[in-house]
Amino acid sequence: MTTAQNNNKSAQNYSEKFSMDRNLALEAARVTEAAALAASKTIGRGDEKAADAAAVDAMREALNSLSIRGRVVIGEGERDEAPMLYIGEEVGNGDGPEVDIALDPLEGTTITAQGGQNALAVMAMSDKDGFLNAPDVYMEKIAVGPSVPKDVLDLDAPIGDILQKVAKYKKANVEDLMVCVLERERHNKIIQDIRAAGARINLIQDGDVSAIISTTEEESGLDLYVGSGGAPEGVLAAAALQCVGGHMLGRLTFRNDDERARADKWGIKDYNKIYTTDELARPDNVMFAATGVTWGTMLPGVRRFAGGAVTHTIVMRSKSGTVRRITAEHNFNRKIGFDAMDG
Ligand code: FBP
Repeated sequence: MTTAQNNNKSAQNYSEKFSMDRNLALEAARVTEAAALAASKTIGRGDEKAADAAAVDAMREALNSLSIRGRVVIGEGERDEAPMLYIGEEVGNGDGPEVDIALDPLEGTTITAQGGQNALAVMAMSDKDGFLNAPDVYMEKIAVGPSVPKDVLDLDAPIGDILQKVAKYKKANVEDLMVCVLERERHNKIIQDIRAAGARINLIQDGDVSAIISTTEEESGLDLYVGSGGAPEGVLAAAALQCVGGHMLGRLTFRNDDERARADKWGIKDYNKIYTTDELARPDNVMFAATGVTWGTMLPGVRRFAGGAVTHTIVMRSKSGTVRRITAEHNFNRKIGFDAMDG
């Protein structure tokens, strides 16, 4: 065999081995870009429904153009409450690999409507049965970046004890640590305890997916995330952590029998179970993509101008550990189906 033939063969082997996942990772970026671009038209217009609808519509259209046999496992809600991207909906063009999809076309609808920070369009993909089928209830969460071992996390230990351990691994004092918490009345006690322990707090209005991922980035300044938020968002955050490192624990919380019945439907038997990162999103083959809608700690938002826009996306894969940051300039005059975006 000549050198050229050899090179050709090894290129072919390489591409057969990796092409499915690699191609899909970049396609996933197109999906979140489409949702972010659509949602960006509604920033600050005070209309949460319009913001969400724009993102959902665009994400669904982009998903259906992918060569996958996809099933939405974390979506916009159950079939009777979500007309599109409901749990169980089949997406993709019916060719290609069978994949499970977790998505939140607009993580931060209120943020977007108010023109606040950290709204994202988010999607994760895995082999079949790669995600916890989480009902749309609250989940208690605690998350740290990869420099802290996972056994430091505990949903029941006093927060002061956890902060001592996090400080040790971060080579910091507890007073140096920054803990991110959603500003909600239900978090008054934990906020008080964190302050009593001496740590600092970053109170956020919304958007715990971005907050959890940010604990993995030293420059974000966030050392720990704690508090309860949406369970679907917990699964999405875990998918991202599988790619970049970091750990989290999650425990579903139920406010009534209706919420418990939702969990029953997904085969959840132990209502008090504490899920590890691996149980929320399997580590072996997960992809995660997010595009900034509004400006945030993790990603800049969409910048629009006449005839186009610039988007910033992060795409990552657990298998290779590759994290790509993609800045894309979109020309609406050339993009099929995008002329309406420039209205
Ligand atoms: P939406 O995109 O559905 O508005 O969710 C935003 C969010 O802040 C999530 O990041 C978080 O997990 C959840 O809402 C918290 O729920 P709640 O606003 O009910 O406290």
